[in-house]
Amino acid sequence: MRIDVLTLFPELMQPYLSASILGRAQQAGIVEIHTHQLRDYSTDAHKKVDDRPFGGGPGMVLMCQPVIDAVYAIEKLDPRPALRLLLTPQGRVFNQAGAARYAAAERLLLICGHYEGFDERIIELLQPEEVSLGDFVLTGGEVAALAVVDAVVRLLPGALGHEEAAGLESFQNNLLDYPQYTRPRVFGGLSVPEILLSGNHAQVDAWRRAQAEERTRQRRPDLLEGRCGTDFRYSPDKNGSDDRSHCNEGRSIESTLALNCIDYCACPMAQAGPSAIAKRSA
Ligand code: ADE
Repeated sequence: MRIDVLTLFPELMQPYLSASILGRAQQAGIVEIHTHQLRDYSTDAHKKVDDRPFGGGPGMVLMCQPVIDAVYAIEKLDPRPALRLLLTPQGRVFNQAGAARYAAAERLLLICGHYEGFDERIIELLQPEEVSLGDFVLTGGEVAALAVVDAVVRLLPGALGHEEAAGLESFQNNLLDYPQYTRPRVFGGLSVPEILLSGNHAQVDAWRRAQAEERTRQRRPDLLEGRCGTDFRYSPDKNGSDDRSHCNEGRSIESTLALNCIDYCACPMAQAGPSAIAKRSA
């Protein structure tokens, strides 16, 4: 996968992109990530990229020319078509299903704004997906872009080591994570729940599942509402076929993904992850 990020602050993003799992994924050739300075694409003598809003009002607006020219130039750097994502509080709120969908793309181009926003014609001309990190206003799109890139890259096959892969549990089935404990067994007068020390994996799984559901009910009931109602299970047919018709009771894997239910399905196709889905859709 290739990811390009257009920003006024590449130097702010680079340290995060080069560290830890994202850095290792690039070194392993799982993903290429390139940042681009928006100012470099301005045709203005002073490399201006923003101007005052028509109609008055506070702040500055990003101008069409540098953004449009930059996007077209960056897209020419690689023949793979890029899914354009524009970070803005006006966008659809990003979530795990969005991360899975973007992880299935061959190429992403993230466009970070700053100041009061983008000239609306940028959005009309480029038709990007507008993505928000949440219902709050950041000083720019960079932190939101880093969050999207991080959530996407960790889903790419091979990006997480075996130890880290357990982290995939979070948001599985649209559920919050269950409580975790490590040594010592007693700390501050609080003991680790006995069941986790039992060695009985089936009971541990059942306890964790119940904890995750209870937490979600208490803290984020909206997630449960957004969840598909059936606990979909993969069951091979008489011939042992694992065709996707058995996935989610006949739903295609693509619609499973769209329904936020990807982790619900235990069929091999769903478990193989976004790249298998992308290949299949091609
Ligand atoms: N830019 C400013 N605020 C933002 C937000 N909440 N999400 C994405 N981009 C933004």
